[in-house]
Amino acid sequence: LGTYFAGLAGELPTMPFSFAAWERLAEEKLEHRLWDYVAGGAGDEQTQRGNVDAFTRYGLVPHMLSGAAERDLSVELFGMRLPSPVFMAPIGVLGVMTEDEHGDLAAARAAAETGVPLVGSTLMQDPLEDVAAALGDTPGFFQLYTPNDREVAESLVRRAEAAGYRALVVTLDTWTLGYRPRDLQHGTFPQLRGACLANYVSDPVFASRLPNGDTSDVATVVQHWALMFGNPTLTWDDLAWLRGLTDLPLVLKGICAPDDVRRAVDAGVDGIYCSNHGGRQAGSAPALHFLPGVVDAAGDLPVLFDSGVRSGVDVVKALALGARAVGIGRPYGYAAAVGGTAGVVHALRSLLAEADLTMGLNGYHDVAEVRSRPLVRL
Ligand code: FNR
Repeated sequence: LGTYFAGLAGELPTMPFSFAAWERLAEEKLEHRLWDYVAGGAGDEQTQRGNVDAFTRYGLVPHMLSGAAERDLSVELFGMRLPSPVFMAPIGVLGVMTEDEHGDLAAARAAAETGVPLVGSTLMQDPLEDVAAALGDTPGFFQLYTPNDREVAESLVRRAEAAGYRALVVTLDTWTLGYRPRDLQHGTFPQLRGACLANYVSDPVFASRLPNGDTSDVATVVQHWALMFGNPTLTWDDLAWLRGLTDLPLVLKGICAPDDVRRAVDAGVDGIYCSNHGGRQAGSAPALHFLPGVVDAAGDLPVLFDSGVRSGVDVVKALALGARAVGIGRPYGYAAAVGGTAGVVHALRSLLAEADLTMGLNGYHDVAEVRSRPLVRL
């Protein structure tokens, strides 16, 4: 109501309240090539659009007179009590999406302010240690792209542990880049121009792979990074090695098939992250379509979900389909591009306010109650 009363007095909000509005502003602001990298996806982008459309095929069932004036949105994850079920998914080029090129720090500061956890990408513009320091008391998770050089992978994990990250999220769906027509048309993508490689440049093992350990020449860094980034030979046989890398909770990102969930459970992981990378990697079915099957196969293990979440209503629907925590990618990325830390804080607060109101007006007191009531299929 505060916003409406301020409006009555002529004080109009300066920031958007919907994904569509953030998206429009981000497109206006970002350099065309970067906009295409962020907004684009694999192939004809049907999967990416399908991720969003899939949410319209489910509906919540309103319950009246339930006394849900106070709601509890908190969830438990890896032994922590989080104030809400929302988290920020890893975005590799977040660093260069803001004017000062410190988008990762902007997101970390927004995490500190809101209590919404950040999954920090391997491809950050600031070293993972600096981002961890900006998180304050809010938990951060480190997302690993497993390089084909195991010693570099181990070094990144040791650093993430030392910096205080609370879980290791290993992304499995990007062992090579997907077919992305927009980037192909531009003939490049940000990392090839040396952006967002700070975690490699600051890594002593990576540096030791460069001639004379010299990290000052961007072209040499990019060349070595490109040779190391892809990891097509990684298979389930390597999971024991991944598991042995850390005592932190281990989460596998990019899992959609129930039989993959069972293999992951057998390998001793601590969480499953159901995602199709926001439709950026390969044409597939909408990610939401896979969520119930993944939740079922995961048993007691928590399932994290992202891909296509655009509103607080979507958050509640993903929870109802069994997600323990719900991630957003582009929604906070656009807010960072438009408004830096303040933008991300506003976008997160708006999303949470909508989720909270949606729960309350539909008569749900807490997340457990959301999960216990079936959605309708439309
Ligand atoms: C991503 N994503 C991603 N995932 C990951 O594991 N590591 C990464 O570095 C990145 N980088 C990245 C860059 C950009 C520009 C985008 C848009 C996405 C995928 C991300 O974590 C998440 O899975 C999707 O963004 C979720 O879909 P929505 O919310 O964007 O629809």
